[in-house]
Amino acid sequence: MRGVRPRASASTLEPPIASASAPIHILAADHLRDRFGPPPQLAVVLGSGLGFLIERLAQPVQVPHAELGLPAPTIAGHAGVHAVGLLGGQRVLLVSGRCHLYEGHPADTVVAGVRAMARWGVRTLVLTNAAGSCRPDWLPGTLVRLTDHINMTGCNPLVGPNLDELGPRFPDMSRAYDPELGAQIDSHAQQLGVALQRGVYAAMRGPSYETAAEVRMLGRMGADLVGMSTVPEVIAAVHAGLRVAAFSVVSNLGTGLAAEAADHADVTRVVAAASEPLGRLIERLAAQG
Ligand code: HPA
Repeated sequence: MRGVRPRASASTLEPPIASASAPIHILAADHLRDRFGPPPQLAVVLGSGLGFLIERLAQPVQVPHAELGLPAPTIAGHAGVHAVGLLGGQRVLLVSGRCHLYEGHPADTVVAGVRAMARWGVRTLVLTNAAGSCRPDWLPGTLVRLTDHINMTGCNPLVGPNLDELGPRFPDMSRAYDPELGAQIDSHAQQLGVALQRGVYAAMRGPSYETAAEVRMLGRMGADLVGMSTVPEVIAAVHAGLRVAAFSVVSNLGTGLAAEAADHADVTRVVAAASEPLGRLIERLAAQG
């Protein structure tokens, strides 16, 4: 039987290990504490085209990933900064720019930032991304709350010795996308008049986009969306006891569903235009504390 998963809390975690040979996330957690002070409850990872939310922070303090000992993203549309400030009157951490498996990072490097925030004491993580749609009826600009995922990356960030101080060897994934938090988000969306779909995200390793046959396969497997991020972070966050919610903004129809091929510049532009309602939703979520 699968056990109840433990929640990470600052008080139950190991004290910092001040050694240059410590895993990245342990050093990064120390840097987060040094640079930002006590942890906020909520962290939001901003995907391609969503970095504008940082401009909505009041009293922001920004630190580049590299100064926290975390890998800097290498692609356009990802600034690579951690920012703490007030959103909806509450202190939050916004992370603009993530790194991806397709950049060549090992899975545990991709999730080091998530592990660092869990160790620091963050309790709730909201992940956002731009994704292709596997359904012809979800057009670019559609906003989707993820209810589940299919990991097609061939990687899992938990492979290797278990980090017992963060979580269990075999973490339960039946409630990976916290259903209660999801219900709160749905209710905020309704109150704000934000159109929000619910769907399943398939993660591919990339960096090539899918073939038409792959998009057909993913759709038949039960995926509504396809992308190249988020799932390693969700797995690491659930393992570390974080409460997780995730959103995709559809940036393009999956290969074979549209006349034109996907292009990264289009992805960034379409998502930026469609992200205003997602910004309002995240602000409302932050405000609830
Ligand atoms: N496939 C994979 N990743 C993506 C896509 C896509 O169509 N669009 C945005 N990220």
